[in-house]
Amino acid sequence: PLVEFLNFEVLDDRGWALDDDDLFEKAAAADLDTADYGRFYVEPNDTLLEAAERNEFAWPFACRGGACTNCAVAVVDGEMPSPASHILPPDLTEKGIRLSCIAAPVTDDAKVVYNLKHLPEVSELLL
Ligand code: FES
Repeated sequence: PLVEFLNFEVLDDRGWALDDDDLFEKAAAADLDTADYGRFYVEPNDTLLEAAERNEFAWPFACRGGACTNCAVAVVDGEMPSPASHILPPDLTEKGIRLSCIAAPVTDDAKVVYNLKHLPEVSELLL
């Protein structure tokens, strides 16, 4: 899968919202740093976090096992199924929030906002 990503801190700084229809169009037009916005491929058997690291991006993580939410991302486009065992409550998974350390996109293309640990609903779960 090809993943297009955006840093949540950029979105927050600019006053954009996760449910903006043109969020990634705005990001593409904003001349952002390569760490804040870009694309990479996820190889088979890699999690999204591993794929980011393979591409030299330092995305946040701590436990690497679905237990802390430091690695949370919002899947804005595409499908990224969540394994059964993890710490996210259903109201967050229903909004498309996933843990990048234990999941990867299954669609050819996906758009994700990483660094979601700064979203208030996620940061209150941080361990
Ligand atoms: Fe802890 Fe992913 S790094 S849940």
